[in-house]
Amino acid sequence: MLSLFEDQLQIRNGSFFFPAFCRSASLIPVQPPPGASGSSPLEPWPGLPLKRQSGSKLPVTAEFVGQICRYQSFFSSSAQAWRMWGHQLTRLFSSSRCLLKKSFKPQVLLWPLGLRKTLPGLPRWHNTASESRNGGWKLKEDHLEVEYGDTLMRFDYVWLRDHCRSASCYNTKTNQRSLDTASVDLGIRPQTVRVDDTTLFLTWPDGHVTRYSLEWLLKNSYEGQKRQVMQPRILWNAQIYQEAQVPSVDCQSFLESNEGLKEFLQNFLLYGIAFVENVPPTKEDTEILAERISLIRETIYGRMWHFTSDFSRGDTAYTKLALDRHTDTTYFQEPCGIQVFHCLRHEGTGGRTLLVDGFYAAEQVLQRAPEDFELLTKVPLKHEYIENVGRCHNHMIGVGPVLNVYPWNNELYLIRYNNYDRAVINTVPYDMVHRWYAAHRTLTAELRRPENELWVKLKPGKALFVDNWRVLHGRESFTGYRQLCGCYLTRDDVLNTARFLGLQA
Ligand SMILES: [Fe+2]
Repeated sequence: MLSLFEDQLQIRNGSFFFPAFCRSASLIPVQPPPGASGSSPLEPWPGLPLKRQSGSKLPVTAEFVGQICRYQSFFSSSAQAWRMWGHQLTRLFSSSRCLLKKSFKPQVLLWPLGLRKTLPGLPRWHNTASESRNGGWKLKEDHLEVEYGDTLMRFDYVWLRDHCRSASCYNTKTNQRSLDTASVDLGIRPQTVRVDDTTLFLTWPDGHVTRYSLEWLLKNSYEGQKRQVMQPRILWNAQIYQEAQVPSVDCQSFLESNEGLKEFLQNFLLYGIAFVENVPPTKEDTEILAERISLIRETIYGRMWHFTSDFSRGDTAYTKLALDRHTDTTYFQEPCGIQVFHCLRHEGTGGRTLLVDGFYAAEQVLQRAPEDFELLTKVPLKHEYIENVGRCHNHMIGVGPVLNVYPWNNELYLIRYNNYDRAVINTVPYDMVHRWYAAHRTLTAELRRPENELWVKLKPGKALFVDNWRVLHGRESFTGYRQLCGCYLTRDDVLNTARFLGLQA
């Protein structure tokens, strides 16, 4: 059960109780997961219940509530689902904290200040604020420690000088650094340090003063970043996705209103797939659709591809054969970020499109066999595409591990999975090769679980956008004439549009 109280979000599962961030007058009861029982293996959340500030109310945004409600879809009857729930919950809180950050002011210390004074052996903290709940700091030999809210942050002195936001060091109009970093003494230390309720003040040996808002430091410190996700996501199998009933966006709304576009992008970012309905079934209209959110990425397949089983290219895609799940263009150093599909015509049978959330499968591997997950993030592989058909002569090579994670928070951002195009493995010694095959088998087994397969029949008028860095696609074999068009989009440009509309991406 989820309940939003004035000062916390509570999640209960049997005996488990989970207080978290939030200040709102709302109370939102949510049904427990069907069949879920017993204690939850949720990861402990580092936050503590927040002391309520009288008169301080934060309206919970529809976006936030929607996100929480969507997270219900993680519930299922198995213990495995609870593990998933716990993991995603941690991510949700990180993102919800971000959503609430403008009104959220942490009031939690690692230890109550009074208690610290009485305990022998605890570190002594400076606090230059009169009645500060925050802002304890310690000058160390090579770094400054700052305690704010429930977070202990450590800052290298050169970093503190380098990120100075004063007018002479940083141009707030262009958001660019003016300071020449190479001019900073690598042995620099601040001469004086002061902290009040909201700000850290540093005076450097040459008299220059640097100020940092503690909120800014929390957001930009390594310790703050490793608790957050770059992009909130809802991982899914077929049941989760279907029960979420993610709406398609109408073509007119998508093209003509920012609300329609934002709704589409929010769903796309959360699920890695999204549909637009009522698109005129032409290549030209599909192109207009794509250009609404991104530059089109022109590749060796052209700008807009137009696809029939005419064997015109040296790729299995140009046949009527079934295609196993894969991500595209793994043989590019930067695989294409998004793929757009629009079926313009099909007179025949079969040809359903298969979609599998690669991050959901990878998450299962992380929970069940973390050593396999880690190996898949470490072993670099080559993927290769060699084509000599007609006038098409291409030889592409892309290198990277199957799973790509941000090292500071272990967040997955790219899966490179294509057994057709994986090249000779010659980048690691033989003993690691065998371990890699075992890890690859674990992931493949997850990707091939029937319950993880979402099958959709593409039809004229319904365009599908797929996050090619996350969701694998495939198709069943088909008969008859089938005409598909689409294109690739650059991920940077899609995320750029999403950020412009205020979404976290
Ligand atoms: Fe493909």
